[in-house]
Amino acid sequence: MSFYIAGTGSALPEKVVTNDDLAKFLDTSDEWIRTRTGISRRHVLTTERLQDLAIRSAKIAMEEAGVSGADLDLILCATMRADTFTPSLACAVGEAVGSRAPSFDLNAACVGVLYCMEVADSFIASGKAKTVLIVSAEAMSKLLDWTDRASCVLFGDGAGAMVVKAGEGRLAGVLSTDPDTHVIRMPNIEGINSPYNQVEQEKLAMHMDGGEVYKFAVNAMGHNIEEVCKRAGLTPSDIDWYLPHQANLRIIDASLKKFKIDKSKVLTNIADCGNMSATSVMVLLDEYAKKGIFHKGDKLLFVAFGGGLTSGAVIIKWNKE
Ligand code: ACO
Repeated sequence: MSFYIAGTGSALPEKVVTNDDLAKFLDTSDEWIRTRTGISRRHVLTTERLQDLAIRSAKIAMEEAGVSGADLDLILCATMRADTFTPSLACAVGEAVGSRAPSFDLNAACVGVLYCMEVADSFIASGKAKTVLIVSAEAMSKLLDWTDRASCVLFGDGAGAMVVKAGEGRLAGVLSTDPDTHVIRMPNIEGINSPYNQVEQEKLAMHMDGGEVYKFAVNAMGHNIEEVCKRAGLTPSDIDWYLPHQANLRIIDASLKKFKIDKSKVLTNIADCGNMSATSVMVLLDEYAKKGIFHKGDKLLFVAFGGGLTSGAVIIKWNKE
């Protein structure tokens, strides 16, 4: 038994920051950011808490799926930075939707939603769950060095959710890790006031070697697409819709080029949202589902890469009319 997607939702912060807004305090330009990345604007948290967005997106997905909190058997939340160390973001969502299901957060950086889908699949396949709420929420703006023009222009904040139910839908999945602790790194606080801690605090902001990430991303996305198609008994041309992680349009183009895929099958929203880490593919899915472009039986391929270095791909047959 696998799962199908029964409902989706998303929620973005109200504040929109354009490339021109960034150029007011950084040595950058709209032209540089658009041509190197495909990004024009992004949403950034101001007065909202991340969990407000997570809860909003979860409620939309649950309403669409026709489920209440009592129907949920598991809540998974993909995030690198919940509002609190504990409770987890998944527990905060569970409280808001009236669920007593086991709930936990999962950090696989930008691949988090794909890791959650595979965990949900395992719970469902083993008979431990029938209905799972997967949420993703990222506050990238709180992790960035806003003086580093090479990284802070790339990211945005947001949340998304999907309800998955036991049934035919997921065709295959692949998760990978190429362990590397240097090319993407966001240090945590070393501790508050331990009299014993001797470890020097790293700078509390994202460090990224953009060129190395670029090379890894193009290879990993291509490899994961080949592998997941092989596991599903499909070829890349059998896929109806590609939902790639939204890190950089040039990465998406370069990793898909060898498959000679019709560009209209490749969905993007990076221009309006930037890179929202784990949340990118979730918001992308909800946006295009709400536009009504998916039809029953369409094959959707999710592919992502991120810090860790993690990567993965999942193919799901769309199950709604
Ligand atoms: N505005 C203007 N100039 C800039 C900016 C900017 N925002 N950022 C960098 N530059 C400059 C650099 O300083 C450099 O100047 P120099 O030649 O005088 O040294 C020049 O532009 C070229 O820099 P490159 O790094 O070579 O630019 P590149 O074309 O490689 O693009 C980028 C950089 C966009 C970061 C690219 O490497 C990339 O997309 N990498 C992958 C990033 C990524 O996917 N991150 C995701 C991380 S995982 C996660 O999501 C958590």
